[in-house]
Parts: sequence; C-alpha cells; structure tokens
Amino acid sequence: MTRPAKLRLSGQPRAAVPTRIHNVETFRAVLLKWYYANRRDLPWRRTKDPYKIWLSEIMLQQTRVAAVLERYERFLMRFPTVQKLAAAKEASVLAVWSGLGYYRRARNLHAAAKVVVKEHAGEFPRTSAALRSLPGIGRYTSAAIASIAFGEPVAVVDGNVERVLARITKQSVAGEQVWITAGRILSPEHPGDFNQAMMELGATVCLPGDPKCSECPVSGSCRTRGPQPSLVKAPRQNKREITCALARRDGSVLLVQRSANEQLMPGMWELPQVTARASEQQLFSVRHSITVTDYRVQVVDGNGAQGIWVRRKRLNKLPLTGLTKKILLRAGIIENG
Ligand code: ADE
Repeated sequence: MTRPAKLRLSGQPRAAVPTRIHNVETFRAVLLKWYYANRRDLPWRRTKDPYKIWLSEIMLQQTRVAAVLERYERFLMRFPTVQKLAAAKEASVLAVWSGLGYYRRARNLHAAAKVVVKEHAGEFPRTSAALRSLPGIGRYTSAAIASIAFGEPVAVVDGNVERVLARITKQSVAGEQVWITAGRILSPEHPGDFNQAMMELGATVCLPGDPKCSECPVSGSCRTRGPQPSLVKAPRQNKREITCALARRDGSVLLVQRSANEQLMPGMWELPQVTARASEQQLFSVRHSITVTDYRVQVVDGNGAQGIWVRRKRLNKLPLTGLTKKILLRAGIIENG
C-alpha cells in the first residue's frame, strides 16, 4: 500500500522503517478522539502562547506534573512575559524556581528569554529548527513548542512516547529510528494535539510497569498488549546521610552560599553542613532526593556553625536549594508560596 500524500507533510524521511501499524489514519483518529475526551485539564493546554508552552515543557522535563502544577502559575505571576523574565536578575529566577531542581533549566530559561528579547524583538522563533538555537532548547523541546504553539508537523519523542511506540510496534526501536517512526505516525493536521496525545497515553494508560490495556483506545493496533520488560534500566539510587545545622538568632537564619564553581546548584544558598556528633541536639530529620541520590538529612541545632546571618524577610528573595526550603518550611521559618 502506498502511503497517503498527507503523511509526507510531516517533513520526516519517507524511506525505511515501516510504522508496523495496520491503518495509521485510524490510529490517529482514535487516539485524538480519546485525547479530546480524556485529556487532563492542565493550564498549559489552555493556551497557544509559546512563552507559556515553552515554560511548561522545560518544567516538565525531569519533574512530575503534580510538582509543576504547584510552580507553573506562580512562575507566570512573577514573570508573566518573556520580557519580564529577560529583565529579571538571575537570583530572582532561581528563587522562584527553587524546589524544582535541575537548576540549569532555570539558568537556560533566563538566558533564552534574553536572546528572544534582544535578537528576536520579543517574538519566539516559529519553527523547530530556529527554536533549537536558543539555550536549553533541544530536539524534544523545539518540537514540542513548534507543534503545540505553531502547528508545525514535527514529532516529539520523550520517554513516554518511546515506550508507547515500543509496545505498539513490539520493536525495541531506539535512537533516530524512534523519531522517524514517531514522525510517520504523527497527525499532519493536528501535530500538537497528537504529540500531547501520545505523551498523555504514556503518562496515564500505557504505564511503564503495569499498562492499563483494557482502557487503551489503540489496543486494537497494539502488537504487545501487556507489560513489556523495560529496555531501559532504571539508574541505581545511592543513599547518603548528611547533617545540616539550623541556627536562628533575632529573626535571622544562618546560611552559606554554594560556590559559583559547583557543578550542582552553583551560587545557591543552603544550611551549613556539619559532621554528625552525638552531642548535638537533634531537631528532626527529612528525606530528600536529588537525581540518583536519596539523602537522609539530620537537622541539628546549629549554634556555633559558620555562615552568614540572613534575615527571615529576605529568604524568599534568595535562591535557596530545594532541601533548604524543605527544612525551613518544616521548621516553620518560611511558608509555602
Ligand atoms: N509531558 C511533557 N509535555 C507534555 C504535554 N504537553 N502533554 C503531556 N505530557 C507532557
């Protein structure tokens, strides 16, 4: 069977890699219908503003939807436009980002906002190719923004899409092949919705461990139906125990600033770390995960520790690390928000 002319609009290579989907037109129609009826009502789905879509896509990298929901609106209240973001100080951007982790995303976001304002008169580039020249925007993010905000027929591949495609085709597609397959399946008429439908299917139905095949709208096209051993090994979590000193004096808290040369969270503020001693008064403990490390953190009375006294009122202006925020919240020194 020759491919319908419409498919070629996707701008993806035409040769090789069959989709292994019997009727791709039906697949698209069924998936889109399911998406329109079942999609989660998320704030970034109520807009076509590329700034807001870009922000959501950056936040959603490595962060769960629930955590992003808490932060997204707050970030937009503080920086409602790309101009406001570009004009902000980096420390203010990091302060609002605090708790989301992977702070390089926030630095790149800020840098990209400056480029959009200075070099593009505040207008986002409208193609995935042009978007990729911005800091922090790679193949995935450029395709997501271009398809969702501007309707460019370019496929998005993230972990969810990769898993959905592997199950549907019962092939361990990898690397460039996944992008090609995704491009051939993509709806050329509704690329943004179709891309989101694939991600949504992976996030809510075609789950990694235990797919809900009985609820799947495209199970008729699926060659697997059922769990498929993961082809990607989950990274091992390391466990670490650390002790943080919490010292308070006249409405101030003792903090230290991480060096600007640190690989992780450079320039951010945190509680001093101390070596655990039985003599110290233990206040409480918290757990915190960063990338592949699970921290068990003892918080002890920090009298005698070294650092800088920071007034409580200034705390929400400083870029605090996520762990520091967690401890200060737990101690009732700051409030959520
Ligand atoms: N993951 C990242 N971006 C998404 C989107 N727009 N829809 C569904 N899942 C996503």
